[in-house]
Amino acid sequence: MNQLSPEEKNNLPRHVALIMDGNGRWAKSRRMPRLFGHRKGVENVRSVVNTAKEVGVPYITLYAFSTENQNRPREEKSGLMKLLEEFLKKEIRSMMEDGIRLRAIGDLSGLPDFARDIVENTIEQTKGNKNWNLTLALNYGSRQEVLRAIARYNRDHSSTPHLPKWDDFSPYLETGDLPDPDLIIRTSGEFRLSNFLLLQAAYAEIFVSPLHWPDFDRNAFIEALANYARRERRFGKTSEQIHQPIHTS
Ligand code: FPP
Repeated sequence: MNQLSPEEKNNLPRHVALIMDGNGRWAKSRRMPRLFGHRKGVENVRSVVNTAKEVGVPYITLYAFSTENQNRPREEKSGLMKLLEEFLKKEIRSMMEDGIRLRAIGDLSGLPDFARDIVENTIEQTKGNKNWNLTLALNYGSRQEVLRAIARYNRDHSSTPHLPKWDDFSPYLETGDLPDPDLIIRTSGEFRLSNFLLLQAAYAEIFVSPLHWPDFDRNAFIEALANYARRERRFGKTSEQIHQPIHTS
């Protein structure tokens, strides 16, 4: 599939979050080192961001490095951080030209200085951009994010212990100024969220692709978007309620 129908175009997700799995297996199947897969994976990030711009998906969030990934071998971690640096150095120009705003979620204090610096500088440089939104989850774990959010919430509300309303609490999450993801895509055929956006995913549609991340090309992304566009999102209501005409009197 390489095109969306007009009906599918009218029903696209606003925010797609991606769990980019399978770089290691992709490399192994070619008898290449894992970092070769990650490098190919970064090229694919460009392709997915370009497709998002082409079809009009304004928010993309990528699970680039999880808190659990900190347990990987030292060379793999430093290789990933160098790839991140390379990616941001290369992309800053087109991010400014295309109006892409970069954000990051996760505990950036756990990144090496050079990686944190370039992430923070790029966030600062792109903060006025308004067309597209790219968010990188870096040293990110959803449970840890929630605990940090509770701590920040309590700091601001210490004098009045109470059960907060969701709309008052959710801005304390690191995704505070992003809409919830409508669609979460995971590659490599694994059916789990792996500590990614657990609360934000409350009503997200989930799409699992059998392809490893480096093979998840434009057509595969378009197919996932078309699949989403054909689903009925009910948010706890019945199908009849969703399709019921709205009576104003
Ligand atoms: C999962 O594959 C992928 C990762 C742990 C890292 C994803 C990172 C990138 C694509 C590069 C950095 C990102 C940017 C935005 C520059 P895996 O290694 O878990 O694969 P496996 O499950 O087959 O071993």
